[in-house]
Amino acid sequence: MTTVLVTGGTGYIGSHTCVALIEAGYDVVVLDNLYNSNEAVLGRIEQITGTRPKFYRTDILDRQGLDRIFEENKIDAVIHFAGYKAVGESVQIPLTYYENNISGSVNLYQCMKDHNCKTLVFSSSATVYGAPKSVPISEDFETHTTNPYGATKLMNEQILTDLCHSDEEWTVILLRYFNPIGAHKSGLLGEVPNGIPNNLVPYIARVANGQLEFLRVWGNDYPTPDGTGVRDYIHVVDLADGHICALKYAAEHKGVEMINLGTGVGYSVLEVLHAYEKACGKELPYKIMERRPGDIATCYADTTKAKRLLGWEAKYGIDQMCEDSWNFTVKNPDGIK
Ligand code: NAD
Ligand code: UD1
Repeated sequence: MTTVLVTGGTGYIGSHTCVALIEAGYDVVVLDNLYNSNEAVLGRIEQITGTRPKFYRTDILDRQGLDRIFEENKIDAVIHFAGYKAVGESVQIPLTYYENNISGSVNLYQCMKDHNCKTLVFSSSATVYGAPKSVPISEDFETHTTNPYGATKLMNEQILTDLCHSDEEWTVILLRYFNPIGAHKSGLLGEVPNGIPNNLVPYIARVANGQLEFLRVWGNDYPTPDGTGVRDYIHVVDLADGHICALKYAAEHKGVEMINLGTGVGYSVLEVLHAYEKACGKELPYKIMERRPGDIATCYADTTKAKRLLGWEAKYGIDQMCEDSWNFTVKNPDGIK
């Protein structure tokens, strides 16, 4: 059986990927320091799959802790989710972001190399495209970042590309996620934002459950059909499946590939709001505000490469994403505890 180490495996995308891995027959080892997640997630994974993954409460900055995991398990591949992800916060505390997302990641790659584990899937982001010159965005577009969080993603991509060029035994798949939303259909796993959410769908969910008064729509004067920002929202379960396809591809290829994971379809803020209204069965109040600094008008993926190399494409549409988000929100008013 192939054993996969999932760093950040109790987090939002990591936990859904653990479910997909177990369902696909992989043996899963989870590493997380629980900075932004709760150990109760492991029980939820067990409720869905019947299997509780082996868990290490370890920090990727802790080299001895990492060594122990590789000594106690024969790890065949790593999916690396662990990291900090708040754009605004990364501007306030850049060193903390560089230490965790860069030093921590290099520590992990060094440990993998020393234990001769040379297959990795890395969580990158569409943020590496900055303000794209056109849409849909394909992998050969120029990359550019405007904040420390985005810089940590691009730097990891560079580090891993250099590593693959230095040693042809490595296989690295850099997955550039567009906007992951939604939740597991059971309502047992989903996104639990820390404090007031910055991202659209977690914010709408709190308006829908009465914890926040109204949605602030950041600008309606963009060059888009209804003037509000357009993004490529992707169901987290589709995203998780993309990781299984990436692992299968990695088992048969060497070298580095960067691949977009999106649906290829863009929805505006108001379209998402209306889909959520359908899901929760009520009208949701909103106010049009000034544009949010740093936002772009439109962003959606060219998904050709994911289809061609991985045989993967997203199955779920915006209505399902909103229904599953709402189901999770209703069932977990206080998050996963
Ligand atoms: P998340 O915060 O829910 O999960 C990350 C997990 O990593 C958390 O459980 C956290 O406790 C853990 N972690 C953080 N630092 C750690 C450390 N030093 N050692 C061990 N564990 C640590 O985030 P997510 O939304 O699941 O994102 C997963 C990955 O995908 C991140 O790398 C993120 O940057 C990337 N990504 C996320 C999005 C998104 O919109 N959610 C978009 C693009 C890329
Ligand atoms: C944000 C991050 C990006 C990350 C992505 C996926 C920023 C600047 N960028 O991008 O790095 O990869 O999430 O996690 O934070 N909106 C509102 N009201 C709200 C919240 C959002 O109108 O309360 C609008 C935004 O203006 C945008 C759309 O909704 O048009 C989506 O916003 P968001 O969910 O924050 O994602 P991104 O801006 O795409």
